Amino acid sequence: MEDVTRFGVSMDRKLLGRFDKVCRRKGYTNRSEAIRDLIRDRLVDEDWSANGGEVVGTLTLVYDHETREVQDRLTGAQHEHHGTVVSSMHVHLDHHHCLEVLVLRGKPERVRKLADRLLAMRGVKHGKLVSSGTGKGL
Ligand code: NI
Repeated sequence: MEDVTRFGVSMDRKLLGRFDKVCRRKGYTNRSEAIRDLIRDRLVDEDWSANGGEVVGTLTLVYDHETREVQDRLTGAQHEHHGTVVSSMHVHLDHHHCLEVLVLRGKPERVRKLADRLLAMRGVKHGKLVSSGTGKGL
């Protein structure tokens, strides 16, 4: 069992009321779990902006595989950065479109740069980088 500390928080009643509503809507059974998630989210953001350690994230890409050389260019860039691309999944969405999900890991700047490069490629129609982590660094 992890070492747990209890602490009290004072806040505006209205603010807490709103927070409790959101917690209920999202299915939290108690405030502690919701507050822990908020703090973890903030710490993951810190890891991504600190650029000191490693981060992990997923990049979703939707592209038209009939666009000239898009598949080759995407694969080429991933091989070039094989140390950053941990894993990938490919789904054939329909006759024209592919969905790819990449798990990226490394220094934030490197991960962001690769994601931006892939997202900007001609033929890539939609995508997003989801910055994630444990909140305890990697
Ligand atoms: Ni495909």
